[in-house]
Amino acid sequence: MSREFRQVGVVGLGIHGAGVAEVFARAGLAVVGVEVDERSLEHGRGLVENSTERAVAGGKLTAGERTALLDRISYTTDLTGVSECDIVIEAVTEHLELKAKVFGELDRITRPQTILATNTSSLSVTEISVHTGRPERVIGTHFFNPAPVLKLVEVVRTVVTEPAVITDVVGLIEQVGNTALVIGDRAGFLSNSLLFSYLNHAVLMYEQRYATREDLDAAMRYGCGYPMGPLALLDLIGLDIASEILDTMYKQSRDRLHAPAPLLKQMITAGQLGRKSGKGFYTYE
Ligand code: CAA
Repeated sequence: MSREFRQVGVVGLGIHGAGVAEVFARAGLAVVGVEVDERSLEHGRGLVENSTERAVAGGKLTAGERTALLDRISYTTDLTGVSECDIVIEAVTEHLELKAKVFGELDRITRPQTILATNTSSLSVTEISVHTGRPERVIGTHFFNPAPVLKLVEVVRTVVTEPAVITDVVGLIEQVGNTALVIGDRAGFLSNSLLFSYLNHAVLMYEQRYATREDLDAAMRYGCGYPMGPLALLDLIGLDIASEILDTMYKQSRDRLHAPAPLLKQMITAGQLGRKSGKGFYTYE
């Protein structure tokens, strides 16, 4: 018999985590959102409020549905708030040591049957899973940014993930209206492996002054029908996150397409992280 999911925990309410919390709450599930301190918690709550406000403005939600969605999410800075959840999705910063620590703690405070999922974009789900006493119930659920709009979730299985856990998680993803692709544990998984080679190539072309940022972005929008050009997309993702993803993929693949463009590193050092810092390839108000 497949398991029932009533309550979902989301640990880390940055742009990804907040989007994931919104997806589950929109589908009628109770969500517990966790952050490290009050300031980050309020920031996460603000992200959900703004995103759902846009959904109402765009006719995707009614004002009443938005209120009900917001009421389904409870916020806490205490990790034990997720102890009764049926699945907990971790969406903290992309550092293996931090994720390992979070998983160790989640393993202690949740019921043994609870599924522990990571939203990692590029780290090894297997390496994360061995920091728990239940690696067979650890899985990857990789959402895309913005999660409330983009439907794909890469469901990442390891060599020890229980088949029933994979089936149940795919069922949950479909239940909330998303599309699941089950894939193996490899750096960058499927989409990021393809996407970030392309994004990195765009930065190299810009760095070599082969084209202006506007021309590079226009080429892919109007020539290939992409919703955003590569440099605008990097600003949306965050240059620091993009660089971490490329670093991890390069370490595993040694494919030069994954070696982060020097300009990316320089911009990060200068604090130009994209939309979230107000400046990346473009400037934001
Ligand atoms: N819930 C539901 N729908 C929402 C919503 C919400 N919270 N917020 C916005 N929407 C809807 C809007 O109503 C709108 O719908 P219509 O097109 O039917 O009118 C649609 O989403 C687009 O919203 P906007 O009009 O506000 O914005 P836009 O048209 O400029 O699109 C975009 C913005 C969705 C970001 C689009 O440009 C896009 O898809 N860009 C590509 C993003 C991408 O490639 N992301 C992947 C990054 S890689 C990644 O995430 C992986 C990783 O590991 C880092």
